[in-house]
Amino acid sequence: MDEHNSAHTGAAEPRGTPLYAGKSKKVFAADDPDRVRVVFTDAVTAGDGAKREEFPGKGELAARTSALLFRALAAKGIRTHFLRELAPVEHLVRRVRIIPLEVVVRFLATGSLSRRLGIPEGQPLPFPLVELYYKSDELGDPLLTEDHVALLGLASPEVVRYLKDEARRAAEALREIFAAVDLVLVDVKFEFGETSDGEIVLADELSPDSMRIWTKEGERLDKDRFRRDLGDLLEGYAFVYRRLAERFPEFASP
Ligand SMILES: Nc1ncnc2c1ncn2[C@@H]1O[C@H](COP(=O)(O)OP(=O)(O)OP(=O)(O)O)[C@@H](O)[C@H]1O
Ligand SMILES: [Mg+2]
Repeated sequence: MDEHNSAHTGAAEPRGTPLYAGKSKKVFAADDPDRVRVVFTDAVTAGDGAKREEFPGKGELAARTSALLFRALAAKGIRTHFLRELAPVEHLVRRVRIIPLEVVVRFLATGSLSRRLGIPEGQPLPFPLVELYYKSDELGDPLLTEDHVALLGLASPEVVRYLKDEARRAAEALREIFAAVDLVLVDVKFEFGETSDGEIVLADELSPDSMRIWTKEGERLDKDRFRRDLGDLLEGYAFVYRRLAERFPEFASP
């Protein structure tokens, strides 16, 4: 029953040792071995952890936004790891083996794409660009070609095809959701994982930590506020959550 304790006590974190403590979330075992509990922390990092700060309340905003967007994507037929919220900062999810690829979908140029290829910041791309990065902090999450993925044995060509198609589908769905609240989805990073019965599902999180969201006027509402010192981080995150929750109450937290 321990998966319910933190919800009852309102404790910020479940008891026990995390299976994994990352830069912004911690993963704990659940009673059911096919499930884990993801706890969102207030830590924000950039540049592979080079820049780090605590923002009290960030974990809750990221968790709520993530839950809302996972529910919204599920309603559009995307298979995800999300099951339900156990506490304001805690999700019960299907346990997966994370595929060590970050699948990025971009609609507008910014960040490393603008830097590497000289595409002006904010320029709309002629088609949704899907990129694969190696999920490896030691190597600094390098960009991979599909041959690199095969060389490293990270995923079969069939799985890569599926990940790219599914990421494009999920990103298009998110773009529509944000457009419905007059916000612009610029790009998004997805992680996928494989369940014990071999199903590939969208995992990890969906929050302004892992996607860029702009107002129509180009104001940044996401982690770039922290990366580039563009204003109060929590204000941006809270604005995004409020907009979504008002427009999509059926997917918001109770
Ligand atoms: N359903 C799931 N089952 C198992 N692990 C998951 C699941 N969803 C997400 N994870 C993993 O949980 C961890 C969450 O922690 P966090 O995102 O803070 O890590 P991180 O510091 O970004 O490091 P990493 O490079 O491992 O993502 C990640 O490693 C993520 O891949
Ligand atoms: Mg992560």
